Amino acid sequence: MPVDLELERIREQVTKCTLCPLSATRTNAVPGEGATNAELVLVGEAPGVTEDSTGRPFVGKSGKLLSELLEGIGLERSNVYITSILKCRPPRNRAPLKSEVALCLPYLERQIKAIAPRFVVLLGGVAISSLIGPWSVSDAHGRFYEGESLTYFMTYHPAAALRFPKTLELMKSDFQVLRRELLGA
Ligand code: URA
Repeated sequence: MPVDLELERIREQVTKCTLCPLSATRTNAVPGEGATNAELVLVGEAPGVTEDSTGRPFVGKSGKLLSELLEGIGLERSNVYITSILKCRPPRNRAPLKSEVALCLPYLERQIKAIAPRFVVLLGGVAISSLIGPWSVSDAHGRFYEGESLTYFMTYHPAAALRFPKTLELMKSDFQVLRRELLGA
């Protein structure tokens, strides 16, 4: 199936999804957005309040920082595909439950399979543990990990970088590692 069609089908299914109780408390589901031929798919944790009210991923404060980090390595948001592990906001931004992740993950797996990017960038601990396994972000960040048919790159979540200046510096240098790999330098 053509990638655009598959992504559109996933978008429709996510928008109507009632697999878990988050469907009852969300304003909008947030399927993801970006280039369907992207070299990078970026994966966050879950929508926050701004994403829930707009239906778009990473449009709040974390999103602004993410856009700046991308621009810092010569990429626009429109060059990449941005989504999260959960497509609906957990109440009061609590951490995703294992059951929610298990029910939601197939949507992300289909998005990644359709786009077939060079790298899947995991932003923070929830993305890393959901797709790779238990690995602390402070050990994993800045590294690539070869999955079965995919290469992951791990870094912090922008919300952590907004809170801790040291994390922001680490995240900026992780993005430079990613840039060098993208350019083959
Ligand atoms: N944080 C995330 O992990 N995802 C979003 O879409 C927004 C904030």
